[in-house]
Amino acid sequence: MFLRESWYVAAWGVDLAEAGGILAKTIAGEPIVIWRDADGGLHAMEDRCPHRHAPLSRGRVEGNRLRCMYHGMTFNADGRCQSMPLLDTPPNVAVRTYPVVEKYDWLWIWMGDACKADQSLIPAAHGISNPGRPMRHNSIEYEAHYQLVHDNLCDLSHVDFLHATTLQPATGANWSETAPRIQSKDRAVRFERWFEEAQLPGDPTQRVDVWNSYEFAVPGIFIMYGARFPAGTARACNRKEPVGIAPIVENIEQQAVTPISATHTAYHYATGLVGSTDEMTARLAQRMDVIMAAFVEDRDMIEAQQRIWNLTPANKKTLFLPQDKGPFMMRRMMEKFIASE
Ligand code: FES
Repeated sequence: MFLRESWYVAAWGVDLAEAGGILAKTIAGEPIVIWRDADGGLHAMEDRCPHRHAPLSRGRVEGNRLRCMYHGMTFNADGRCQSMPLLDTPPNVAVRTYPVVEKYDWLWIWMGDACKADQSLIPAAHGISNPGRPMRHNSIEYEAHYQLVHDNLCDLSHVDFLHATTLQPATGANWSETAPRIQSKDRAVRFERWFEEAQLPGDPTQRVDVWNSYEFAVPGIFIMYGARFPAGTARACNRKEPVGIAPIVENIEQQAVTPISATHTAYHYATGLVGSTDEMTARLAQRMDVIMAAFVEDRDMIEAQQRIWNLTPANKKTLFLPQDKGPFMMRRMMEKFIASE
């Protein structure tokens, strides 16, 4: 079951350029082609030619049309057939089109009723093209249901164990023993916490207070902001959000979970460490390989978890522990939106 009336991240904007302007994606079980016309216009449509169901993503852009490269039918940006060899009048057929926009360096696609595609529903993200706030990005796929990936992102207590040699030392924080404050918003669950007297990575002698906050928004958008401050800052802020205080190091993340099907999920992620000086930011860049490795650790565990779920009877109970509060709230929120459709 998928949420339809929502903006999904289809890909990074740079992926489309690297693919030559035509990109094939399957989102929530629907084959989609995303393409740019000769004027730079961005379009998304059903990746299925009405003639013999060949993928239009194997086609060719010709001006403001996309040509099916099996037998030559052409389509305009509205999805309407414009021409077919041997026919004086093109057949009265069209493929479905989808609203698509590029924002925060992601390509967002609306999978529901196009009349309801409100761009103000796109959650704010950092973007990866700001040279002053560099991020590393990638996309991977999981052989797992998207809800298991949501669970993972809504309970970061696993950092201490699953990422014991990667993220945990990179953050210097104690994730499993520090419960976040969790708050439900209209279309997101917000998590925030302070890690007090944490280690400053690279200098275990220095203690810092680490602020970490993130929102996980429907249908699977994770936007994180973290910052390290001199020890004592958390207490000075009454353990609330630090506003107007210059951090030593910031960490920024934007990640998106997009269902491909009921058994496969795409994951588009970017992460960055920003120092208070350019020299520090350059030094932090050397730590990024370690952080990027953590995303593969998540995938390995979640795919292994999915294989066990596949062998588990539906009536076999799981435990509900304090760590499960965030995943539970996110599941309820998704269920509510899906039910409303
Ligand atoms: Fe596209 Fe035949 S399948 S024109």
